[in-house]
Amino acid sequence: MIRSSTDGARGPRPRYRTRLALVIGAVGMLATAGAIALPNTASAASTLGASAAERGGRYFGTAVAANKLNDSAYTTILNREFNQVTPENEMKIDATEPQRGQFSYGNADRIVQHARSRGMQVRGHTLAWHSQQPGWMQSLSGSTLRQAMLNHVTQVATHFRGQVTWWDVVNEAYADGSSGARRDSNLQRTGNDWIEAAFRAADAADPNAQLCYNDYNIDNWNDAKTQAVYRMVQDFKQRGVPIDCVGLQSHFTGGSNYPSNYRTTLSSFAALGVDVHITELDIRNAPADAYRNVTNDCLAVARCKGITVWGIRDSDSWRSGESPLLFNGSGQKKPAYDAVLTALNNGNPGGNPTTPPPGGGCTTSTTAGTVWGDRYNTSVTVSGASNWTVVVAVTAPQSISTTWSGSASLSSNNTVLTMRSNGSGNTFGFTTMMNGNSSARPQVRSCTAG
Ligand code: XIL
Repeated sequence: MIRSSTDGARGPRPRYRTRLALVIGAVGMLATAGAIALPNTASAASTLGASAAERGGRYFGTAVAANKLNDSAYTTILNREFNQVTPENEMKIDATEPQRGQFSYGNADRIVQHARSRGMQVRGHTLAWHSQQPGWMQSLSGSTLRQAMLNHVTQVATHFRGQVTWWDVVNEAYADGSSGARRDSNLQRTGNDWIEAAFRAADAADPNAQLCYNDYNIDNWNDAKTQAVYRMVQDFKQRGVPIDCVGLQSHFTGGSNYPSNYRTTLSSFAALGVDVHITELDIRNAPADAYRNVTNDCLAVARCKGITVWGIRDSDSWRSGESPLLFNGSGQKKPAYDAVLTALNNGNPGGNPTTPPPGGGCTTSTTAGTVWGDRYNTSVTVSGASNWTVVVAVTAPQSISTTWSGSASLSSNNTVLTMRSNGSGNTFGFTTMMNGNSSARPQVRSCTAG
């Protein structure tokens, strides 16, 4: 299993100022040769995804709906701000296996392709769930259902092998309220071991994916449901059931609220030896304070790998009546957006561990290099690890033409660079062809140790 943990060292942002002066100088000298737009150098921390990536290689993601990928207002924000994507409905059981044994991946594949071609990581959601089951599955029970569920997990995880970083293997298996019991469902009635059976099937189908349990109302550390999920994860870790992570949906909508002990919940799960993810965040009326608190809580816990909001604009939300997201219906940034970006850029005021955990993460700082009329250089310095893998994306039509001081692999359109350390130090570089776009600047998508 690929494990990438995080540290939260701050990037040496002030360095941009000196480099900016050098770049302005270089551009000034070249200006006589032709019209050159002044490059916007320090773009690394001006978007949610880029800033999260600088905070120990975290992500900032969003749920995406396939039928909105041809809405340019939507994709403009998606491509600019986010470095992680979760298909909102397209990987659910009713979408991927509408008829028993007949799999359908078109919409999910479209989202995966959109994301991965831009260096965004994908969270698969979800392999086993009581809800959004196709009719044929709803009517099954017993060992027939158990076999059909396991076959579904195997087929879907195999189809997306190598493309999905994290899977929500099982979603929402616990009951609300004070019982601390499993939720009653057709899957639960196949036997209490259905959850671990699903995790084992997913692990066999995609051994490199990170396997998560995902649920809502497990945010308040004092809730019976939180405690019950905690005990299940503890039990799985003790018995060697392959679980890597817990997803807290964190829908602070529909009557649920951000709890003041949220950070305790995140760190308590993390202490079991799993990563934690905030997987479906939305907050009624999007108060800046609550969004800031959630962000700072994640940054304070080294194993909190990232935050996914459940949609881009309020109009995209499943609870649009509560206007719970970071962009309004016109795609404008709301105050909560500024609160989140500022919290990310400031690092964590609550105190990050300064030493990355064993096999831990890394951070990057990006420096603008020489600019020519048709191309420009960028260098990236990695700290926190000597063996590292950094993913950097440029915005098409820009494309990466040359790289140095690392072992490079490029996506087919030369927009996503995966650079691995090759013993030549912790700074690597690359040249980007502008191809008509002189203002966009590269964004670091992730930094992984090892
Ligand atoms: C929601 C989607 O946002 C809606 O479009 C769909 O109609 C219902 O499901 N918990 C989950 C998500 O794990 O899959 C749900 O998504 C929201 C609650």
